[in-house]
This record gives sequence, structure tokens and C-alpha cells, in this order.
Amino acid sequence: MIRASILGLGSYVPDRVVTNEEIRFLNDKHERQSEMQTETNHDWIKTRTGIEERRYVDPDGKTACSDLALQAAKRALADANVDAKEIDCIILGTLSPDIHFPGTAVFLQSKLGIDGEGGCACFDIRQQCSGFVYGLQMADAFIRTGTYKKILVVGSELHSHSLDYTTRGRDVMVLFGDGAGAVVIGAKETDDPKEGILHTHCQADGSGAMDLYLKVFEIAHVPYVWYDANDRDVNQIKYPQMNGKKVFLNAVRCMVLSVKRALDETGLTWDDIDWFVPHQANLRINEAVVQYAEIPPEKALNTIQFYGNTTAATVPLTIDHWRKAGKVKKGDLVLSTVFGAGFTWGSAVFRV
Ligand code: ACO
Repeated sequence: MIRASILGLGSYVPDRVVTNEEIRFLNDKHERQSEMQTETNHDWIKTRTGIEERRYVDPDGKTACSDLALQAAKRALADANVDAKEIDCIILGTLSPDIHFPGTAVFLQSKLGIDGEGGCACFDIRQQCSGFVYGLQMADAFIRTGTYKKILVVGSELHSHSLDYTTRGRDVMVLFGDGAGAVVIGAKETDDPKEGILHTHCQADGSGAMDLYLKVFEIAHVPYVWYDANDRDVNQIKYPQMNGKKVFLNAVRCMVLSVKRALDETGLTWDDIDWFVPHQANLRINEAVVQYAEIPPEKALNTIQFYGNTTAATVPLTIDHWRKAGKVKKGDLVLSTVFGAGFTWGSAVFRV
């Protein structure tokens, strides 16, 4: 039987560390001001979210989402010992694409040097924080049906350029960081049902679409890019808008149900699974999921403290972080559960 298997994994975060203390002093060009710009503080951010710092790209205007994706992809390819030329499909999840169209996967393909006439298939997926699990589900199906042989699944986000650094945007601005993670997926001949990717499921509830969104433009509106003279509307178009409490409650509810569904459908228990790797939106969300889904707390891995929320990148970034720290080992079984804008959510069970 052909099963899809993770051949290699890699991640990338920019060098620049922005602490909760520093973020209060940043203007929208990311320059540190002598006077505080945002009414927030380390204790509020840490207590409500668990975040202590995040990474930002240099604000020199030279880095795009596909550049972060490239670094993570190169590391995943090296880890898998796979040449970029062997990749016959790229699936890239992001909510911060290089430009509106074409999608970011084609920019990544070019930067990997595998563009041209014989170029592979490139998909962009727009499932925000759920992008990695959605991408994994697609890759799993493509491999098992023989459609593609070696697939790069990437989650990459460059948030720092599109946040409202004033007090008005503080509830969203403090949450996000820049980063990318990638895996190389390939086929493995095996009759062992506990090898490779064991399970994926993805769900969505479009009734929550406007509880977490970023417009930038509105195609129904004439003209489609519009800023009302009213200053508030400008910000509602330019920056992410979030109904934080509703997102929080739905994240906990859907992630708990999703963990239970993954266990039910695989027949696995926590004795079989090495690690729980949830999406990193808020440490309090993850602690609640661990409690309500009765997950052994020592099996839950988080990195939101160091990187904030890197949306589509959080899962591979978290696995790679704890692998480098010596916790996660090759062949460990991971249950990963995600939730994001849409609302979208899902789980995957796989060996790393
Ligand atoms: N610093 C200081 N005070 C703040 C900040 C801040 N950064 N942000 C909000 N506050 C204030 C509010 O204005 C409010 O003040 P008030 O009582 O005077 O009105 C007070 O703090 C409490 O605000 P709440 O919104 O009630 O705070 P809450 O405990 O709900 O935490 C948070 C807010 C952290 C945003 C939380 O709601 C959350 O994490 N929501 C989910 C985020 C998430 O999961 N996003 C999904 C993933 S992202 C994606 O898919 C793209």
C-alpha cells in the first residue's frame, strides 16, 4: 500500500526579536520611538496570550512571504535529502501573500530555481491558521492516488508589515509574528497503518467569516480599493479585524471536538501519541484544549512564547523548534490540531 510520509521538515524565523516591551514603542515603519506608541504592556500580553516575544523581518521592504518560505523549504529539502528538482507539486498556505495574484507558490517555485517549461504544479491555499493541516490533507490525497510523487507543503507568513501599531490595533497587533515552516512529503510502500500520515480531517464554518478578516480591498465595491474619508473605515480595510472573544470560544470548542474526532477515527489513545502540537494563537486556548480534551499536559508542545502567532507556519515551526531542542525525535507520532479565520479547523496525525 502507498502511504504519504513526511521525508523532511524545516523552519525559518528572521533574526530580529521584538519583545513585548519594545513593541509598545514601534511606529508603523517599525522604528523604535522615544515615546510609547501603544497602550499595552508585557504583563497584559503575557497573561492574556502567553507571548513574550516574536520575530520580525527587517523593515527594508526587501523581504516578502516567498522569501521566508524559501528558507524553510530549503531546510526541509536538505533534511529530506531531496533535490528541489524532484518536487512535482508545491502547496503553500499563507494569509500574507507577496501580491494579490498570482499566488505565492509560483514565486517560491521560481526562487527555488525549479520554474520554466517543465515546472511543477503550484497551489496557494487560503485557510489562514489552518493552512498547514489543509495542505497536509491535500498532499496526503495526491500522494496516495499517485498524482504527485514529492510535494512541498509550506506555511509562510509576513505579518509585521500589515499590523496597526497604534493603541486602536493592539488586540491584534501584539499576537502576530513572521516565520515559515515546510515539510517534504513523499510516497512510502508499507502495509503498516501506523506509518506516515495516518489521518487528516478539515472543517469550516463560514458563518464566522467576518469575525476575523482582513479586507485590503472589496471586489463588490466600486472602486474596489476604497478608503472612506472616515478614518475608522480606512483602518477597517487596511488592518486585520477580530472579534477576539468569539474567536477564542470557537477555537477552544472546535479544537476539542477535532482532537476527539482524530482519536475516534484512528482508534489511537494518548498512550500511542508522542506529542500534541496545536496551532499557536494563544497559550490560554491551548491550555483549555489540553484540559477539556484530556490531553496529557506534558505531551503538549508550544512555541507561542518565542514566536507569537505565525498562522500557517505554527505547526511545522513548533515541531522543528522542539526537534532542535532534542524533544521531538525522528519517527515520533504527532497529533496536530488547528483553528483559524473562516472559521476553519482540522487535525492531522502523522509521523515526523
Ligand atoms: N494591551 C492591553 N490591553 C488590551 C490589549 C493589549 N494588547 N488588547 C486589548 N486590550 C484591552 C481591551 O481593550 C479591553 O479593555 P476594556 O476592558 O477597557 O474594554 C481589555 O484589554 C480586555 O480585552 P478582551 O478582548 O476582553 O481580552 P481577552 O482576554 O479576550 O483577550 C485576545 C484578547 C488575546 C485577543 C483574545 O480574545 C484572543 O486570543 N482571541 C483569539 C485570538 C485567535 O485565536 N486568533 C485566531 C487565529 S488568527 C488567524 O486565524 C488569522
